Amino acid sequence: MTEIIDGKRLAERLRAEIGHRATLLREQHRLTPGLAVILVGEDPASQVYVGSKARQARDAGMESFEYRLPHDTPQDNLLKLIERLNGEPGVHGILVQLPLPPQIDTDRVINAIRPDKDVDGFHPFNAGGLATGGNGIVPCTPLGCLMLLKRQLGNLSGLHAVVVGRSNIVGKPMASLLLRENCTVTIAHSKTRDLADECRRADILVAAVGRPRMIPGEWIKPGATVIDVGINRLENVDGKGRLVGDVDFDSAVKVAGAITPVPGGVGPMTIACLLHNTLEAASRQHGLPAPAGLMEAAWESVRR
Ligand code: GUN
Repeated sequence: MTEIIDGKRLAERLRAEIGHRATLLREQHRLTPGLAVILVGEDPASQVYVGSKARQARDAGMESFEYRLPHDTPQDNLLKLIERLNGEPGVHGILVQLPLPPQIDTDRVINAIRPDKDVDGFHPFNAGGLATGGNGIVPCTPLGCLMLLKRQLGNLSGLHAVVVGRSNIVGKPMASLLLRENCTVTIAHSKTRDLADECRRADILVAAVGRPRMIPGEWIKPGATVIDVGINRLENVDGKGRLVGDVDFDSAVKVAGAITPVPGGVGPMTIACLLHNTLEAASRQHGLPAPAGLMEAAWESVRR
C-alpha cells in the first residue's frame, strides 16, 4: 500500500510545538520572536502566501510585522526598509516575498538582509554555510522536505536521491541537505539527457520544476519515496483553477512507496519551517541555544 504523506497534519503539530517553545521563551526569557514579512506588488498568489505566513506566526505566539508596498516601489525604498528592520531588536526574522517586480534587483535585496535574520536562508552567507557544512539558516521548503523524508524513512544514508530542478530556493539547497544525510545525490534539470532513466534510479525523488504533472508514474522506481514540491494552478472551466504538483499523482501513487499530495504535502511544511527558522533566529540572537528536538516532538504527537 502506498502511503500518502500527510504534510498538513505534521505541519500542524510542528506549529503547535513551535508555539509551545515560543511561550517558554516569553515566560523564561521575556523574549517574543518577531517576524517581518514584506510584499512588493499585488500578485494574488503572493498575497495569499504572505497573509498565511503572518497569520501563522501570530497563531504561534510570535509578533508579526507586515509590509505591503506598491508594485512601483523604488529599490532604494525597499533597501532602506530592510536596513531599518536589520537594526530593529524586536524583529528576529525578515522575509521578502519573491518574485519581486522588475525594477528591483533580487540579489541586492537578499544580500541586504542581515544573515542572522535571513529566515528564508537565501543570503549567500547561509547558502554557503549549507554547502560547506556550517550551521546557518536552512531554506524553508527543502527543510520541510527533509523533515518529511526523515519521518518516512529514518536513516537516509546510502540512498540514491534525485532532485529534479536546480533553483537556489529548492533544488540546490535540497541537494546539499541530502548530501549531508549521506545520500548519493543527482541533480537533474531541463538539459538532463535522459530524465526518465535518471528518475527511475531514485529511492528518493524530489520534484521541484514548476511544470504541472511533468513526472509520470512510469518514471518512478517501485517503492520509491516521492516528494512533490510543485504547486501549479491549472485553469479549468469554472475559472477557479485546480492545484496540481510536478508529479502526475494518479499514476505515481500506483508505483511509489510513499508520496506527498498537492495540496497538503510540502506546502504546509514550508510555513511551519519558516516559524521554526524564526524561533531559532530569535534564540540565537539572544545567545540562547537553538531549540532542539522540535521535529521529534511533533512526530511523537502525530503518533499519539
Ligand atoms: N516565493 C516562493 N517561495 C518563496 C519562499 O520560500 N520565500 C520567499 N521569500 N518567497 C518565495
